[in-house]
Amino acid sequence: MEMSHRSKSFIDIHERAKSDLKEIMLIPDDYRIMFLQGGASSQFSMVPLNLYVNKKADYAETGSFAKKALKEAARYGEVTVIASSADKNYSYIPKLDASSFSKDADYAHITYNNTIYGTRFSSAPDTGGIPLVTDMSSCILSEPCDVSKFSLIYAGAQKNVGPAGLTIVIIKKELIGHALDITPAMFNYALHDENDSMYNTPPTFAIYFAGLVFKWAKDFGGLKALGALNREKSSLLYDCLDNSALFKPTAQKDSRSIMNITFVTGDKDKDAKFVKEATQAGLVNIKGHRSVGGMRASVYNAMPLEGVKKLVDFIKKFETENK
Ligand SMILES: Cc1ncc(COP(=O)(O)O)c(C=O)c1O
Repeated sequence: MEMSHRSKSFIDIHERAKSDLKEIMLIPDDYRIMFLQGGASSQFSMVPLNLYVNKKADYAETGSFAKKALKEAARYGEVTVIASSADKNYSYIPKLDASSFSKDADYAHITYNNTIYGTRFSSAPDTGGIPLVTDMSSCILSEPCDVSKFSLIYAGAQKNVGPAGLTIVIIKKELIGHALDITPAMFNYALHDENDSMYNTPPTFAIYFAGLVFKWAKDFGGLKALGALNREKSSLLYDCLDNSALFKPTAQKDSRSIMNITFVTGDKDKDAKFVKEATQAGLVNIKGHRSVGGMRASVYNAMPLEGVKKLVDFIKKFETENK
């Protein structure tokens, strides 16, 4: 933690982390990887500040973070909400195809996995050639991803990668260097790129830690193996919930996240009882986000299959006792 970010030791750590991430995600050579700070929330502003040319962008409104992202983009230009699932409390991913997008948009933005509502895109929509930007904060490294379908991927590290404080940006080189004049230096991709993410002191410990996780992911068998495990984990939970007479998953079947499994009993008191008893049984952090209630099992890469099996057993036991 005391290492200078200019020391050879740290530069080696930084380089190794970048090359391992490139290898795991099969990032093509015409992309740059940046290790920044400010969380995914700063990307909500950096994306429009750097990508606006006509100052027009398309956003899919699929949850709270998508709404926050489009609100920031609307400060600097014209945002078109091309689809929204607000009508059903963000329980589904709207269908998008090339005809959904504006011809003159500088970019289109989707939130790949909606952490709070437990929904996810299962593939990158065809934008008809408009650069596609995605927030992968809660699903990066959870399954194979065709990076070439996106012009920019960003993610806060704190779910699947490492400690909070590191933000990953994977961006097509051609999109760098067109920031609006008002862009603060720290929000300019070009400046970070020219300085190899070391314009100022980077979050050295978080990068070191992320590097360990990238190595672990490689040794685990890469995104194919992680994807298979995450599908197994989430299927176990969804099968249990689909077969339950007490609980029901809140996300529509074709839109279900493999990272955040949201469910309810339909009775607030029973939900509260479940959360309390689950916590007592050592199944912590199962309460749904305060904006939606119910329950949410976040089964990020660090959650082993055994943890999910314990939750499934507990759900069944609770159901029997609370018929
Ligand atoms: C999908 C998504 N986007 C953005 C954010 C906000 O990220 P940060 O706290 O790193 O700014 C989160 C945080 O949970 C998230 O899940």
